[in-house]
Amino acid sequence: MQLSVKPSNLPSTQTSCLVLAIFDDQSLSRLAKQIDRKSGGQLSKILKRNDFKAKVGETLVLHDLNATQIERCLILGLGTRDKFDPDACVSALSGLANASRQLTIKKLNVDLDGLKPKGRDESWLASKIAECFSDVFYQYLDMKGNKKNRAVQTLQRIELMGADKQLKALRRGAKLGQALAIGKSAAKDLGNAPSNICTPNYLAKQARSLARRYDRITTTILDEKQMEKLGMGAFLSVSKGSDNPGKMIVMQYKGAASNVKPHVIVGKGITFDSGGISLKGGAGMWEMIYDMCGAATVYGTLQTIAEVGPKMNVVAVMAAAENMPSARASKPGDIVTSMSGQTVEILNTDAEGRLVLCDALTYIERFNPETVVDVATLTGACIVALGSQASAIFANDDAVANALIAAGEQTRDRAWRLPIWESYQPQINSAFADMQNIGGKEAGSITAACFLARFTRKYRWAHMDIAGTSFKWAGVKKGSTGRPVALLTEYLLSQEAGSI
Ligand code: BES
Ligand code: MN
Ligand code: ZN
Repeated sequence: MQLSVKPSNLPSTQTSCLVLAIFDDQSLSRLAKQIDRKSGGQLSKILKRNDFKAKVGETLVLHDLNATQIERCLILGLGTRDKFDPDACVSALSGLANASRQLTIKKLNVDLDGLKPKGRDESWLASKIAECFSDVFYQYLDMKGNKKNRAVQTLQRIELMGADKQLKALRRGAKLGQALAIGKSAAKDLGNAPSNICTPNYLAKQARSLARRYDRITTTILDEKQMEKLGMGAFLSVSKGSDNPGKMIVMQYKGAASNVKPHVIVGKGITFDSGGISLKGGAGMWEMIYDMCGAATVYGTLQTIAEVGPKMNVVAVMAAAENMPSARASKPGDIVTSMSGQTVEILNTDAEGRLVLCDALTYIERFNPETVVDVATLTGACIVALGSQASAIFANDDAVANALIAAGEQTRDRAWRLPIWESYQPQINSAFADMQNIGGKEAGSITAACFLARFTRKYRWAHMDIAGTSFKWAGVKKGSTGRPVALLTEYLLSQEAGSI
């Protein structure tokens, strides 16, 4: 969807649909007043009937207002003026996007004159409009057989209209929002692709194609032979059970001089998690096509970054493998040596995410990272703890944790911190090896993070468990959510100036 920005004024407002937002005090914007006047008070007359309550996200479509060139006027409720905070704004925008989906229009004009939610600027508003529309209009259609049956979305362009002094910020936000829409959709497409299509090799191909499309992105892909040479025994213990070989996919965005330390993001890319020999139950096993949502997130984030073009360096790594049971698969009790030299007793082959991640986290030491964030659908326990509202954050550095939480608050792609105190560490001590890959019944998300903490002592690091936030397993909106691309993008852009 294209977004453009222009001044809000009546003479040039010839449109198939104009959006006018109103609070429940029914006061009209400058443009709304002009339209009301021109139409002989038609607008205020309808509002006075009080059928339209202006609740947050409520909409009303008026056709052919008298004496104007506006085919449809879409009135959008914003609720009470003093309660118009970022969350209310997002709800209103979702209502607007859903109502727009029902209309057969190519272009939408949105009057934003004087409008902004509490504590946010116009740039945020414009960016959220792009993101919300993209979320609501997103459909995963690649797997539909009959291309003719695909629902055609008519809306192609949104024109944001504001007062002159708002235009610069609106333009900046529109650009960021469009970049985010592109990156988030890419993450959703990868997440939703089934595992017979989306294999580690498919992810590698997508990464190569990204590098072809963006000058500042380069890709390096390690195959199993190279990983063996590097001593990545933990990663390979997962991929060896599958006929689809694992890949360590490294994508680099170079926006600053090569001596500027990069921020590194690492994603869990289990393209299907059957559990391996510790096989999962059949019910709902299909959901494990989403076990590569961490990888999809870092891919989508890097694409967003490349679209925005900040002067910084970012490395994104997808640790891609399939977790399958086979005669070659790892078995409970097996002990392997990770790239770090530390040995791991695999007591449950279904705790595979930490095994592929730990070698990726050792590998990226070579980039001398400024900060490292890994993103993973790591534990079912995380869904029990936080549900689908917040991603979990674990960190060995308060500034990194706080910057991620702040980025989540800013974007409403929220996250919440959980502890990784040393006192949890004994839960993953092993009698035979340096550690074991499960920590017992208690605090499953924390012990998983504690496992990763043993591989990230050399740099400032945070781990995000996105098991509850990155996909929805049922309902109309079933599928990958594109979270936390917005949070991570905001985090990285906030680091451009080297602020932490
Ligand atoms: N990919 C799963 C975690 C998961 C479960 C993500 C449900 C999204 C939805 C992970 O590999 C896993 O199987 N974890 C186990 C760990 C256990 C064996 C210690 C779990 O959470 O049960
Ligand atoms: Mn698993
Ligand atoms: Zn998994």
